[in-house]
Amino acid sequence: MNKNTRNRLGMTFVVALAFSGTMMLASCGTSASSTSSTETTGMPPLQPVLHSGRWELGATDLCYSCHGASSAGNPTVDKAQAIPESHYQDGSSATMQLDSGYSQCINCHPVAQE
Ligand code: HEC
Ligand code: HEC
Repeated sequence: MNKNTRNRLGMTFVVALAFSGTMMLASCGTSASSTSSTETTGMPPLQPVLHSGRWELGATDLCYSCHGASSAGNPTVDKAQAIPESHYQDGSSATMQLDSGYSQCINCHPVAQE
C-alpha cells in the first residue's frame, strides 16, 4: 500500500521534471533564434519586389548563386541572406547540396507585391 503510493508520487515527480525540461529547451530555442537575421516565425520570407523575374530567368541555380554556400563563402554574395542550414542535405551547408525538398524555392518564397 505505502510502496504503491510512493511509486506513484515518484512517477509524478519524474513527469514534472521531464515537462519542465521540455519547457527549458523550448525557451532556449526561442532565444537562440532571435540571433538570426530574421525573427523565426516559421514562415518563409517573401522575395523582395526587386527579385521579380529572377525565378523565371534562372530558377534554383540563380537563387543559389547568391544565397547558397560555395567556395566564395556562405552566402556566396555578402549582402544576400544565407540559405538556412535546414535547406541543405544532412541539414548542413557544408554539403553545398540542397535537400531535394527545398529546390523549388518559388513554392515557398513568392515575390512580394508592391
Ligand atoms: C544577384 C544576387 C541574388 C539573386 C540571384 C537572388 N537573390 Fe535573393 N536576395 C539577394 C539580396 C542581396 C537580398 C537582400 C535584399 C534586401 O535585404 O533588400 C535578397 C533577399 C532575398 C530574400 C529575403 C530574405 C529575408 O530574410 O528577408 C529571399 C526570400 C530571397 N532573396 C530569395 C531568393 C530566391 C528564391 C531567388 C531566386 C529566384 C533569389 N533570392 C535570387 C540577392 C539575390
Ligand atoms: C518547403 C518550403 C521552402 C522551400 C522550397 C525553400 N525555402 Fe527558404 N525558407 C523556408 C522557411 C520556412 C524559411 C524560414 C526560416 C526557417 O525557419 O528555416 C526560409 C528561409 C529562407 C531564407 C532566409 C534566411 C534568413 O536568414 O533570413 C532564404 C534566403 C531562403 N529561405 C532561400 C531559399 C532558396 C534560395 C530556396 C531555393 C533553393 C528556398 N529557400 C527554398 C522554406 C522554404
